[in-house]
Amino acid sequence: KRIVILISGRGSNMQAIVQTAKKEHWSAEIVAVISNRSDAAGLEYAASMGIPTSVVISKNFPTREAFDAVLQTEIDRYSPDLVVLAGFMRILSAGFVEHYTNRMMNIHPSLLPSFVGVKTHKQALDAGVKVHGVTVHFVTPELDHGPIIDQLAVRILSTDDEESLSQRLLIQEHIVYPRAVRWFVEGKLKVNGNRVDVDADLT
Ligand code: GRF
Repeated sequence: KRIVILISGRGSNMQAIVQTAKKEHWSAEIVAVISNRSDAAGLEYAASMGIPTSVVISKNFPTREAFDAVLQTEIDRYSPDLVVLAGFMRILSAGFVEHYTNRMMNIHPSLLPSFVGVKTHKQALDAGVKVHGVTVHFVTPELDHGPIIDQLAVRILSTDDEESLSQRLLIQEHIVYPRAVRWFVEGKLKVNGNRVDVDADLT
């Protein structure tokens, strides 16, 4: 299986996927890491691992659709089976998303459907919830609403602030995302409407 990963910055989730794929000898290859920002730190890591990288600068385009069209052409140069959004901070147009139906994933730092959008840790703290977490889902045109593949939860501590929460959740992201990608590579994911059934031993 051929995987393209899209980043906008640090790329810690991309790193976790690259490292896990190598360690677990997946029958898959990360064939490219693409960013919408030339200053994305993750690009250096990908290059250091010998992974082709490219940049499609979002601010150079007059419209969202124009950017998405060039991004799609660049992605499809690598003929991916799966597109992984990992800290990719762009809202994608419906046409782009529909081109990758059930083969584009995203990770969102909340237990969807709670707390869509940004500043999810602040939302959780302000809401006073006791459990927070991360969600991996297939991407659909409606932001942060696609079929959920997997989730991991953490308890919110009385001492938590946005920073401590995001750091503790990042650890969970680096567990749940590589595992979800591996399930896809192994053909274990079946989308049934808004549900994803995982034909995997969940223990
Ligand atoms: C992470 O918090 C993730 O939940 C969100 O973007 C943030 C940056 O992730 N999608 P990364 O270190 O760039 O992978």
